[in-house]
This record gives sequence, C-alpha cells and structure tokens, in this order.
Amino acid sequence: MVPDTLARGDDRALSVGGISIPVLAEQYGTPLYLLDVETIVNRAKTWMAQVSPHGTVYYAGKAFLCTAMVELMDRLGVGVDVVSGGELATALGAGMSPQRLLFHGNVKTAAELAAAVSAPGLRVVVDSLEELRALSAAAVRCPDNGPIAVLIRVTPGIEPDTHDYIKTGHDGSKFGFPIGEVAHAAVAEALASPHIALAGYHAHIGSQVLDPAPMAETARRLMRFAVEVWQQQGFWPQMVDVGGGVGVAYQPGADAPDIAQVVQAVVAVVAEATPPSLDRPRVAFEPGRSIVADSGLTVYRVEVVKQTPGGPTYCAVDGGMGDNIRPALYGAPYTADVAGPPRPGRATVTLAGRYCETGDLIIRDAVLPPVAVGDLVVVYTTGAYTHSMASHYNRVPRPPVVAVWRGEAHLWVRGETFADVRRQDVPLAWAL
Ligand code: LLP
Repeated sequence: MVPDTLARGDDRALSVGGISIPVLAEQYGTPLYLLDVETIVNRAKTWMAQVSPHGTVYYAGKAFLCTAMVELMDRLGVGVDVVSGGELATALGAGMSPQRLLFHGNVKTAAELAAAVSAPGLRVVVDSLEELRALSAAAVRCPDNGPIAVLIRVTPGIEPDTHDYIKTGHDGSKFGFPIGEVAHAAVAEALASPHIALAGYHAHIGSQVLDPAPMAETARRLMRFAVEVWQQQGFWPQMVDVGGGVGVAYQPGADAPDIAQVVQAVVAVVAEATPPSLDRPRVAFEPGRSIVADSGLTVYRVEVVKQTPGGPTYCAVDGGMGDNIRPALYGAPYTADVAGPPRPGRATVTLAGRYCETGDLIIRDAVLPPVAVGDLVVVYTTGAYTHSMASHYNRVPRPPVVAVWRGEAHLWVRGETFADVRRQDVPLAWAL
C-alpha cells in the first residue's frame, strides 16, 4: 500500500527513500509523482525469485513506463510487455533487447506490426486473425529476421471479481480468441504460415484481481487447450503466459494476494497438466500494478478548504483527474495523509481535484489530521495507472515523476510547462 521506505522523521514530516517529502515538494513543485525505487526493486525481485526457475517475468509497461523504468527493469532481469508503438519505442530506445519484449494489444496498426517484425527476437501476442495475417505479411518483408515468434491470446471465459472495465478474459471480451474452436483455428492458421513461429499461448483475465484462484484456473484452461491442440494438431507450446492482474491494497487493512502463492499455484497447474512425454512449457507472468503501485505517491498542495452547508468539507488540491483518472473512471479507492507534521485531531474531508468536473474527487470522506491551505497532502499507492493515464484536461501541465533511492532524488520524467501544453498547436490558417 505504501512505499517500503516511508517514514515520519524526528520533525514528524513524511519521508520516502530517505528524503523529506516537503523538501522534495519545495524542490520539484506540486503536484508531484514520487516513486520509491527500493519498493519497485523489492517487488520485482519477489516476482523474479518466484518465476525465474520456471519462466519469465515481463513487467506490464502500461502501468507506468518511461526510459529509466525500462532501464531499471532491464538491470533486474525483468522483460517488458508493451502494448503500442509508443511503448515499444520507449523500451527499444531505452536499450532493452527485443528478445526480452512481448508486444500486446487487440489492435496493432500496420506501422506497429512493421516495427515489431523489424526487431529481431521480439514476440508478438496475436489477438485476431486480421493481425495474424497482417503480421505474416509484414514478416515476409523482413526475411533476414526469420519467422516472427508469436503467442496466441486465448480468452479463457473467466470473470474475476474486479471492476467491469478491467475484466478481459470473460466470454464476449474484445480481447483474444475464444477458447475452443475459434482458438484452434487461429493455431492452425499460425502453424500453416512459414513466417510465423508459434511459441505458445497467452491469457489475461483482468486487473486488480485479489483472489489468486482465477489465475490458477486460467492456467488450467490454457493447459487443457494446449493438450487438445497437441492431440489434434501436434503442436506443443514452449511458453504459457498467464498475464498480469495481481491486485494490491489501496486501503489500510485491505488484503493483497501473496505473489509466491500465485506463482506456485500456476506453476503447479502447468506441471500437473503436462503429459509425461512432453517438456513443461516455460511460464510467463506480466505483473504491472503489483510491481509499481506501492512505490508511488502523489504530493499535492492544499489550495482551498471549503465547507458546504450540510455537505462535505472540500479540501481542494492543485491536481486531480488529470494526473489520476482512476477515482473518476473506476471509483477507485485511495488513502491520503498529510506530508508535514500532523496537527492534533482528525477531520473528515473530501479531497477534491482542481479540474472542472464535479466528479473530480480524489477521495470522498477521507479522515485526515486537520488541514489548512498551503499544507501538503500525499495520496498513496499511485505508482500504477496514474502517470500512464494522465491527460492535458483543462490544459493543466502534467506533473514530473521523481524517483528516490537511498537519499538521492532524480527526475525520471520532466514536468510539463505551458509551452509544452501549447507545443503541438498550430495557429489559425484562415484570414476570415
Ligand atoms: N497483461 C495484459 C495483457 C494486460 O492487459 C494487463 C493490464 C497486464 C498484463 C497488467 O495487469 P496488472 O498486473 O497491472 O494488473 N487502467 C486500469 C488497469 C487496466 C489494466 C489493463 N491491462 C486501472 O487503472 O486499474
């Protein structure tokens, strides 16, 4: 829920990575995304320790991606799952080898597929027949790189308990090939193309999943499918990828799945379902949130404290849905605290954003020490799906991302200026 290095110092101010948050806010301004590198490293190492003997960890870049994050994952031996040409360019530009990348997405444009086939060793997770055919055609144009390695994305018909918007593996999902006949046909077509090297299967059932059971069930269905394909088409996968989705706690006392337990359950299913005469497929996981969410916090400055007659007391800050769309989009819960020395007592306030929408409320009914204008408030667990989903709504510049580690702070992404906000604008062309 919070960074592993979070502490309140002797001065009662919060610190992270050994640096006082009020000092960081003074230096970099607010709003400010902070990432605690120690926490990212700890989470990534936990995943690696569990998965490495059995397969591969690909960090899901959609949770948070920038050049330094790719470099960090690379140094920790973690691959990256990218989902667009922009994420692919970020990963390759940061020096990650294409062999350590997986390219996802239910839509990949011709330009994106061309980029994929020109990166030797990159694996593509194919989501539709259109894509399979376009990829095969694109691979013909890059003969030197040989056939392109592919996983077929299967929709396993599993509906985990999470927000509807982030379920992906249920019947009727827009993602993947429905398990059964449709997926069998996709495998047959992939096997028939000399430009495609089928490596295995993938499924991802959703995100912020708190129960480990559906992931093991995903593995069970993928393996059942693999055995059927083996019997009917004679193909056995080298890799079975069960996606990401392991949830985190956003509130004190909330439970999060144990990573070791999730991995062991999946590995056991894969081992058990592999026929004795065949090699056990390598198992891949694609954790995003569970690597980066806890490491992040967002620092805001309180700009307005407004009591409404008979309604909430709003504590309005200098950020909101532009830097964190999750409360407005999913009703996502968060936990806040004051960064400076807490005043005595507790008060219930609604932490409101600065954007021009009534729905821009970061936390309803947060119980905090009394706050006043000018105070710094932190919102925890904002490392995943905040910066990566940030917008320019209301033409508010996006905040910087600063990483802290062992008493040192470094910018990972510069904050935008008004010039950045206007950069792509083109003046009116008509004299009228
Ligand atoms: N693999 C695939 C194919 C995915 O689609 C996703 C997430 C992941 C891995 C990583 O899942 P994670 O471990 O981070 O849960 N914007 C939403 C989350 C959308 C997730 C989309 N796919 C949110 O803010 O909650």
